[in-house]
Amino acid sequence: MRTPFIAGNWKMNLTLKESVALVEELKDLVSGVTGVEIAVCPPAVNLTRVQEVLKDTSIKVGAQNMHWEDSGAFTGELSPVMLRDIDVDYIIIGHSERRQYFNETDQIVNRKVQAAHTHGLKPIICVGESLDEREEGKTRQVVKAQVKSALAGLTKDQVADSVIAYEPIWAIGTGKSATAEEANDVIKFIRETVNQDFDGAGDAMRIQYGGSVKPHNIEDFIKQSDIDGALVGGASLKAESFAEIVKKSV
Ligand code: G3H
Repeated sequence: MRTPFIAGNWKMNLTLKESVALVEELKDLVSGVTGVEIAVCPPAVNLTRVQEVLKDTSIKVGAQNMHWEDSGAFTGELSPVMLRDIDVDYIIIGHSERRQYFNETDQIVNRKVQAAHTHGLKPIICVGESLDEREEGKTRQVVKAQVKSALAGLTKDQVADSVIAYEPIWAIGTGKSATAEEANDVIKFIRETVNQDFDGAGDAMRIQYGGSVKPHNIEDFIKQSDIDGALVGGASLKAESFAEIVKKSV
């Protein structure tokens, strides 16, 4: 039995004041909600303050990116050691925006996933096809290659403790979501791939859908056999809409 997991990726949005106000409101809106795991992923500069506001709640905190090395001459980067030191739980790795604008390759994604597990951070590994790839009928091929590469070298337990977010790139921030059935088919395929490679670990792993998830469509996704929650972008920037998504996921 997999617990649904709703994570909000704030991307490069919200000042410190706005971040604090959002989580203050969110913790009240979702207090008493059980049966769903919740995480927010603010910009790195606001992580510690958000942590403080959420310290007596079950809402987890995640970061949006990190380097794979523990420390060193990597100006502008954050390390897994630093994130664990401030009790960050999750780390988003390989988001399509990082792959597209910051040249993150499958190899870099794999290094970061390994570093996350080494330091006790749970990775939310993003995979997904572009519109061209989808139209060429390559969705499964692309997603399979990304998943295999991201998980290479992990133990079965580490795989089971990882989260995958299937986010078709054409559905991110566009208002166009995949149909719930289409998303479920791909997610089921990802789970089978992981099961084959890691001796059944796919059945334990949570796999989210991401891409224009809103309060009005979350129920369609969550009722599918293999979708274990959502990685939410735009709708996580308002406490009310994010809380509504959370409550509809139980
Ligand atoms: O990380 C979140 C995804 O990129 C989805 O973003 O909900 O704004 O489409 P969105």
